[in-house]
Amino acid sequence: MSQENPVAVFDSGVGGLSVLREIRNLLPHEDLLYVADSAHVPYGEKSTSFIETRAILITEFFIRQQAKAVVVACNTATSAAVETLRARFDIPIIAMEPAIKPAAQQTRSNVIGVLATSGTLSSERFANLTARHGNGVKIVVQPCPGWVELVEHGNINNEEAHILVDRYVTPLLEKGVDTLVLGCTHYPFLKNTIQKIAGSNVTIIDPSPAVARELQRRLHHHQLLNPDKSKKGEDTFWSSGNSAQVTAIISALWGENVTINNLPA
Ligand code: DGL
Repeated sequence: MSQENPVAVFDSGVGGLSVLREIRNLLPHEDLLYVADSAHVPYGEKSTSFIETRAILITEFFIRQQAKAVVVACNTATSAAVETLRARFDIPIIAMEPAIKPAAQQTRSNVIGVLATSGTLSSERFANLTARHGNGVKIVVQPCPGWVELVEHGNINNEEAHILVDRYVTPLLEKGVDTLVLGCTHYPFLKNTIQKIAGSNVTIIDPSPAVARELQRRLHHHQLLNPDKSKKGEDTFWSSGNSAQVTAIISALWGENVTINNLPA
């Protein structure tokens, strides 16, 4: 495995760009590959076996692209498939999980809220996570149907976003939540709207910067960091549901006009 090989990142759609952004900032010399599985978004209400199959196919695609590590930039896919991926593929697999531990350490009201998809919240992995790190705090979970679609359509700051964010955040505030965990990689794009509704006394935790640092540690540990510091890393994008709309939303969220390649079937 060469140190010049790319790092690969995937999500059901555009949510993983919130993680890709942190990776790009932390590792400016790495080439990055991104797959949005747009033909199958949202993953949140799909079966574990369906998501597992998608995760395997996408990882096989990344291996053919010579990826040296894979970041599962999706909490739902992590819950459904990370053990399978780690058992099957012999490269570092870095994954997401709701940031219960830092939230439990920071809360003053001792009530934390976890915003995530139903798939993540109902998983065995999530139950283990709360059992391990949720000691002494009350954890209120909140699935947020419709939020992924808001982000996929670029509705992140408008009236529609405000109404749907309010619907799931206000009940948590009424239960005394002072710390909100963003347990889905689409949700950081709604952070401004969430903060407006929650108010400045509520802390919002986005695990993406920690995931980027974990990737850096793992690459360093395996001696896979790109030593060529003269080179600016390139970003290459694929989508399984390529369309003008996917190109437009990825370009808008990424902040530059990008070309989206078709993910082979
Ligand atoms: N962005 C994803 C996550 O972190 C998946 C959302 C979905 O497709 O339902 O859970």
